[in-house]
Amino acid sequence: MEKTQLSYEETIRRAQGSMERFPLKNVNGVPLMCYIADNWDSISAFCPDPSDLLIATYPKAGTTWTQEIVDLLLNNGDAEACKRAPIVERIPFLEICSPPPIPSGLDLLKKMSPPRVIKTHLPFQLVPEGFWKNKCKVIYVARNAKDNLVSYYHFDRMNFTQPEPGPWEEYLNKFMKGEVGWGSWYDHVKGYWREREKRNILYLFYEDMKENPRREVERIMRYLGLSLSDDVIERIVQLTSFKIMKDNPMVNYTFIPDFVFDQSISPFMRKGEVGDWTNHFTPAQSQLFDEDYARQMKGEDIPFRTNI
Ligand code: A3P
Repeated sequence: MEKTQLSYEETIRRAQGSMERFPLKNVNGVPLMCYIADNWDSISAFCPDPSDLLIATYPKAGTTWTQEIVDLLLNNGDAEACKRAPIVERIPFLEICSPPPIPSGLDLLKKMSPPRVIKTHLPFQLVPEGFWKNKCKVIYVARNAKDNLVSYYHFDRMNFTQPEPGPWEEYLNKFMKGEVGWGSWYDHVKGYWREREKRNILYLFYEDMKENPRREVERIMRYLGLSLSDDVIERIVQLTSFKIMKDNPMVNYTFIPDFVFDQSISPFMRKGEVGDWTNHFTPAQSQLFDEDYARQMKGEDIPFRTNI
């Protein structure tokens, strides 16, 4: 296990000189890291196996948490089995592309045989058609806009492959306009919501997972067609608590060197709470955001909660 982690870390270390805050480039109107945009044709042509499972999220909505829950469910709660490799290798990130020699998501997927679990941040309309054609299971996790924005802001401060976030207020405006990596939060959550019934997408909320993790773990278990014992479910809930995951080197992203993720600026496992937005928004910013939110989410009935 140790060896796998070191080898991944080592691979990234070898790319040190070529890592930078990559600019964003539009793909069908959605701003993506330029490396992703430059490799778009092969990403969009990816064809999964019908047995593959997709975990889709807007960045910072609780992806890693859901990935670890799913891997534990598929391994009957075996914590050791889930330490076989860092989360990025166990559940490849479909569209990610970085300078060589870092393997792309597609490189990692090619080495695995189905059934695979795959992560994506792509909005619904950019998900490769093969996922729908092959009727793959898809779990979508959404987080309320204000906490999602706060989490993304801190992530962009410490992630040296993303554009410079700038000051908080500037970032807030960019987020509202969808001028951040993977585009508009509003379009993202709406895109999957509208298709959830037709495509059999399990649509989850970060706030529900915080409120009652056991209930949501069981919901995922049923969606995957599994039936695990009460003890195993309870163990998975414990193993995926924020506190335990923060100290788990296979999920806390300490396997990424600090010239890429500088966790002294902001840890990857930062707070893991609902409502941290109240520590960032001024009353005026909150009002402006809410007015804009009402416009952008008009006619939608997605039950987001900004506190629990
Ligand atoms: P914060 O920055 O608000 O702390 P992603 O995995 O999509 O990048 O999301 C990261 C966010 O999910 C971070 O939010 C992180 O702390 C939070 N997170 C990760 N694991 C968690 C867990 N087990 N419980 C609650 N939140 C978790």
